[in-house]
Order: sequence, then C-alpha cells, then structure tokens
Amino acid sequence: MCGIVGYIGNQDTKEILLKGLEKLEYRGYDSAGIAIQNADGVHVFKEKGRILDLRSIVDESCKANTGIGHTRWATHGVPSHENAHPHQSTSGRFTMVHNGVIENYSHLKREFLKDVSFKSDTDTEVIVQLIEKLVNEGNKVEDAFSQALKLLKGSYAIALIDAENEETIFVAKNKSPLLVGLGTDFNVVASDAMAMLQVTDQFLELMDKEIVIVTKESVTIQNLEGEVVSRDPFTAELDASDIEKGTYPHYMLKEIDEQPLVIRKIVQAYQDDQGKMSIDQDIVDAMNDTDRVYIVACGTSYHAGLVGKQFIEKMANIPVEVHVASEFSYNMPLLSQNPLFIFISQSGETADSRAVLVRVKELGHKAITITNVPGSTLSRESDYTLLLHAGPEIAVASTKAYTAQLAVLAIFASVTAESLGRDISLDIIQELGIVANAMEVLCGTKEEMEQIARDYLATTRNCFFIGRSIDFFVGLEGALKLKEISYIQAEGFAGGELKHGTIALIEEGTPIIALATQESVNLGIRGNVKEVVARGANPCIISMKGLEEEEDRFVIPEVSPMLTPLISVIPLQLISYYAALHRDCDVDKPRNLAKSVTVE
Ligand code: G6P
Repeated sequence: MCGIVGYIGNQDTKEILLKGLEKLEYRGYDSAGIAIQNADGVHVFKEKGRILDLRSIVDESCKANTGIGHTRWATHGVPSHENAHPHQSTSGRFTMVHNGVIENYSHLKREFLKDVSFKSDTDTEVIVQLIEKLVNEGNKVEDAFSQALKLLKGSYAIALIDAENEETIFVAKNKSPLLVGLGTDFNVVASDAMAMLQVTDQFLELMDKEIVIVTKESVTIQNLEGEVVSRDPFTAELDASDIEKGTYPHYMLKEIDEQPLVIRKIVQAYQDDQGKMSIDQDIVDAMNDTDRVYIVACGTSYHAGLVGKQFIEKMANIPVEVHVASEFSYNMPLLSQNPLFIFISQSGETADSRAVLVRVKELGHKAITITNVPGSTLSRESDYTLLLHAGPEIAVASTKAYTAQLAVLAIFASVTAESLGRDISLDIIQELGIVANAMEVLCGTKEEMEQIARDYLATTRNCFFIGRSIDFFVGLEGALKLKEISYIQAEGFAGGELKHGTIALIEEGTPIIALATQESVNLGIRGNVKEVVARGANPCIISMKGLEEEEDRFVIPEVSPMLTPLISVIPLQLISYYAALHRDCDVDKPRNLAKSVTVE
C-alpha cells in the first residue's frame, strides 16, 4: 500500500513522477504529492484526493532534475493535505516519501523528538525529523540516514532528498517493495516496475535494510555492514500495453475479457516438451512428502484457496486446510507431522500472508507461493513459486488473477495426482481449453449481464449469494466482488445455511443470486431458492447447461463439474461491474480499498 517514485536526471521530472504515480494508484489513492528540487530549493505539491487532483495544483513552470512522489493509503492519520506525503523536517532541509508502517514511531517521538513540533499524524514525519536531528548533531547525511533506519521497527520503503544536495536521492527498504530503475544519464526509484516502464525496463532488486545512494550517473548499494554490494539488473518483462486500458472504459472490464487468453497462456506455460502438464519436480516431491497442505491467503486469493482445496483433495487425495492469513497466527491449527504451506497471493506482497510465511519459515516448514508477480516478497521468501502468468492486474477488484489461481491450482493438483499414481480421469489440458472457450462465450454476454444488474441491483441495499458444494465458494467471491465495487451489502452463504439466521433479512424483492452448476446438489439449491422466494426474495438463478430449468435467469456453458468456478464467476464479475457502473461508483478504485495491502 502506498506507492513511491523518484527520478534524478535531465528529463521533465514532475511529468515522470506524476505519470509514475498514476501507474501506482492501485496501491492507494486517498492523497498524493510530489517534491521536486532545483537550484531554488525543494518545492512540495501535495493534496488530498487522486493524482488528477495533484496534477491540478502542480506548478507547470517549475522545472527540476530531482524529485520524489507518493500516492497514499492512509494508515496513520486521516487522508488530508497535512498527512499527504512528502513530509519535511522542521527546517525544510529534508523531504521524504515512505511506504510502510513504523511500529515504534510513538516511542521514537517520545525518546528522541520531544522538542519537535509535528505537522502531521504520520509515522513518516518521525523518520524525516529523526534524520534532521542526527544531522544537526554533526552526522553526515548518509550516516544520519543509516542511523535513523537502524532505530526503526516495522516496514518501510523510503526515498529522501536533501535541499543542500541536488545530486542525490537516498533510498532504503525493509519488508516493503522498492526497486531502482536504471537509465542513461538518469535513474529512478519505484514501488513497482510498472511505474517507470515509461523510461526504462532495467531494474535493480533491493534487499531489506540495504542503503542505496542514487545519483544521475550511479546507483550505489550498501549492505547493513556498510559494504558496497554489486548486483546485476534485470529486465522487467512487462509490455507497456499490458498496463494501459486501451479502448476499455475500465481496467476491470479489460481484465475480465483477458481471462480466456490468460487460461491459454497458463496451459502453455505449464506444458513440457511432450505436451504434458508439468511443474517443478521439487514441488511435486514436496507434495509427495507432505501429509497435509495448509493454504493461507486473503480476500479473493482466499476464495481461490477454498476451491483449490477441492481440487487437491479430490484429485490428489491429500488433506487440505484453508486459512485466512490475518487470523492464522492467533488461531494456528495443530500442524500435522509433515505440513506443506501454500500461499496464494496475486501481488505476492500482502503483509498478512507474509507474516504467516515468516512464522512458517521460523518453524522450519516448506512453503510454495502461487503469485502473479515474479520476484515479489512472498515468492522470494518461499521455497518454491508457481506463477500465474496473468499479466498485470490493475483494477483493485481481482478478476483474472482469481481464475488464473484456479487454473494453476487445477494443474498443480492434477500433476500431483499423477505423480502419486492416481487416475483422475480428467484431461486437464483439454478441459482447460473447454473452459477458455466457455469464458469467451461468457465475455460476450455483457448486455445480458448489464440487464441483470439493472433488474436486480439498481436500487437494492443488499444482495445474497447462495450455492452448495463448490458453488458456495464462488458465491463468496461473487459477493466480495459486488460489495467491493458497488458498496451493496453482499454476502455469500452455503445454500443450506441461510435459513439458520440470515433468512430473517429477506424482504419483498431482496435479490438472491443462486448458483446451480453441480448436479449432485441441484435439488438442494433449488429447494433453498424456493424457501427464500416464499419469503418474497427476487431470485436470479445461474445454472449450467444440462441442469437448467425454466425459472433460470442465465445458463453458463457446460464444463467439467469440478472446473465450473472458473467460468461461473464471470457472470458474477460482470454483474458486479455493471451494478457499480449504474451506481456511479469508481469501478477501478473503490473507496477505502487498495490492491496491494502491505500493512497487517
Ligand atoms: C486486497 C485486495 C483484494 C485481494 C487481497 C489479497 O484486499 O483489495 O482484491 O484479494 O488484497 O491480495 P493478494 O495480492 O494477496 O492476492
């Protein structure tokens, strides 16, 4: 959460920073700011609101060669001009942007900064004031920077500029993502390569607690001991068009439409020379050795985990538990003899999941991360990684990453099953091909989905999703999508569970979206629909071809029963999209949310 950028070079600094911040808005968007530095000093522009609001207050005529910028998701203090980054030290000499949470900031304030009058409620201001204090005590800036960092407990990605030195950006990170990008006669800093693809595709990975001195011509990385570290850059394998909306009105719609292509890419990526599905032998061995799998994830990825459990248990016959990461540490289950952990995270940066990973590694257990972002923190810190190959997902509400997670989990389960000698009677390559075709059909039903959104969700306060068996998990995801972007209170329930309490909320016209894709529970879910209809609910039944009945509102194409979540979710994504659109909500940047949640 929060995105930071920095630029030092001869091009239009403020434009590069603003464009970079636009690409980082998925990380937070309640306030934003830039500081640009020229011979006249440091000029700070910051405002509550989006980058668009920031653009309107930036002095167009202000030229500079050095600058830093920030887009914020508030943790300490409300979104406001005062709490927006960059923050400055009392004298104005030091200016800083920060992503992360400093856990001991109150202690540092009391211990070292009693006499300082603070302008904001942020933990960031403590760091910049601390650096000024250390410099005032006679330390060189570089030393003050490193001493201050040693006092911090928590996570940070930081970029600092000094009004007395136009030639340098001081950079450091701990647990929060940060990269340095390399150019000819310029260098850049960014939370995500995406932000700086506009000027370079060459990036240096930074390690926790390193200190990096960035000038126009050079990047010097020092480790904790103060030794200079050399590191080769990597090429960011992102196409600039991957991160543009193109002709789409919203990233979410573009990403929904990309799903068939993503599934085909995944099948290709996991195919070996003989055309068989294949994953890293070490991962297969780890699965063969374990007696229980623990899936840990948050949000949409947690919902993918619930479906993944079905895949692994049904195909590979290995018991699986699925846990919400934020609760895992408090409600840690009794672990089996040989546990294997699977972290599912689109971003690979989610702090709640990472906290569990750290604990799991301390306990000496093996971990696999399933992520969309190679080189992300969870990927680096796990023993093994399975990539999603979904391309950048920019809309805050996750769509293509969810179906990619399901596809990778299905491949993973089938390869494991085969290695264990189990006959699953499912040609996964062929079945995923059928899924991709069905997805294409569903992506072509936008008008019908828009009509469903109008008919059921135009004015409603709430909406319930019901399903049995694997449909229940898709209902949970459908409800999450709808509430995230339309702000309609939406909840998913197991079909049989609604009558044990929530049925009390059913009133005349309450929309109920019921999924009926599983023959084994078809009668059961239809019975549940009758119960709510008898109490005035307005049912929207989405069934699968072969199981349809006259009362159904929409019928999805037929795919292998186990793989239905990959396609039944698409109508739910589209209905949520149109419901949000009709309610004038900001589809790609819903209120209070952020895509990459790097605070616990
Ligand atoms: C945030 C996002 C959700 C996402 C969740 C987990 O809450 O708003 O869309 O599902 O984080 O993110 P991850 O990157 O770990 O999958």
